[in-house]
Amino acid sequence: MKVSVIGSGHVGLVTGVCFAEKGHEILCVDHDTEKLAKLKKGESPFYEPGMNELLQKHLASKRLQFSNRTEDAVEYGQAIFICVGTPSTARGKADMTFVEKVAQTIAENLKEYRLVIEKSTVPIKTGERIKRTIARYAKGDAQFDVASNPEFLREGSAIEDTLKPDRVVVGVDSAKAESLLREVYAGFNCPIVVTSVGSAELIKHASNSFLALKITFANWLARLCEASGADVEQVVHGMGLDHRIGKHFLNAGIGYGGSCFPKDVDALAHIAEELRVDASMIRGISDMNKGQLQAFYDKIEKELWVLTDKTIAIWGLAFKPNTDDLREAPALRLIEMLKKAGAKIRAHDPVAMPNTRKLHPDLYFAKDAIDAAHGADALVVCTEWPQYRETDLAKVKAVLRVPIIFDGRNCLDRKRAAELNMRLFGIGKSAVGPA
Ligand code: UDX
Repeated sequence: MKVSVIGSGHVGLVTGVCFAEKGHEILCVDHDTEKLAKLKKGESPFYEPGMNELLQKHLASKRLQFSNRTEDAVEYGQAIFICVGTPSTARGKADMTFVEKVAQTIAENLKEYRLVIEKSTVPIKTGERIKRTIARYAKGDAQFDVASNPEFLREGSAIEDTLKPDRVVVGVDSAKAESLLREVYAGFNCPIVVTSVGSAELIKHASNSFLALKITFANWLARLCEASGADVEQVVHGMGLDHRIGKHFLNAGIGYGGSCFPKDVDALAHIAEELRVDASMIRGISDMNKGQLQAFYDKIEKELWVLTDKTIAIWGLAFKPNTDDLREAPALRLIEMLKKAGAKIRAHDPVAMPNTRKLHPDLYFAKDAIDAAHGADALVVCTEWPQYRETDLAKVKAVLRVPIIFDGRNCLDRKRAAELNMRLFGIGKSAVGPA
């Protein structure tokens, strides 16, 4: 089947290559010509495991093509996925400028039936608005449907998540739209949940906000554990074995980041307030998440006393492992706070250093994890990259000026740190090693 994808960012590009992998013929569109030049050479503009391989495979199979013209997308595929960005405005509302522009261009170029599918995370009722926009700007009387097919991919495992989803949600209001989307997903081995367009839109927001709530609950428990002497990992293990709760997304840390959770939680609160539904619970998630990083910073400051002229090693800059994405990364906020207090930073991340350099050219970017720790007054772990777990703590101790570690992701070996007489602070558990 011929499918068009408008917007070749994390969602659009992953969708495009995965549909090509399932045998469809894909045209991906993006207005950024520099990005397109890279893509045509088989190079992903962002780091995502498996992406370059699939890109190259399907450029070669000719099932994947690129264009910078939205008009081409309207002509090419009977199904057109809208995957453009919906950034947050200053007030936390989603900015729908790009979505509206795409809807207008589709309308102006509509010559025969098209199914227009919103895949970007959008506020509820966006489907209705896209429908109204296309009807308003259409030049002829070609038929169309608008559907919602939210994505649930996680950065770092986006391809696996897309090829093997837990479920596919399709929000439709016509039998034709349903049957076309079933054709798109024919090669996927998972339940297809068919709903109204409005319910599909809400499933996406509700899922992300619920996961953010789960993490936030674990982070709140961590604070309770620190105050009471309990251990958060033991507590969430005991909770998570109850199938009604589940063990996933209960890892306490320094707060969630990324392009989705912070934005989607704020957008859901905004939607609720606009509909005059009490949003205090959802607003609370966002406030607690900001407080989590502040509590971590306070812990560092309390232990190190004066931060001016102290050297702090930071392991991990990306908002999570296996990505070079820095959007809403807790490490970046922490670096800003530490710099403001006068500390010097030695930073390391396996893939996110080039992006960080653009924002903070004044940091020292280390050649590896041990180099980052060299001469530092403390080491702070912000992202749980597997290579940090595997780093020999004896080697870390040998290069640190003072053997103090703040493990913001509970990923280092506490027993080993204690054996080496290193002081290690985790999240939601008591510190080990000499005070
Ligand atoms: C998320 C959703 O998981 C995905 O379904 C949606 O489509 C997009 O948003 P993503 O932002 O890529 O995906 O990453 P995710 O793995 O969900 O992690 C988000 C943040 O939560 C990260 O900062 C991560 O470190 C944090 N997190 C996650 C925790 O702090 N604890 C956990 O237990 C899980």
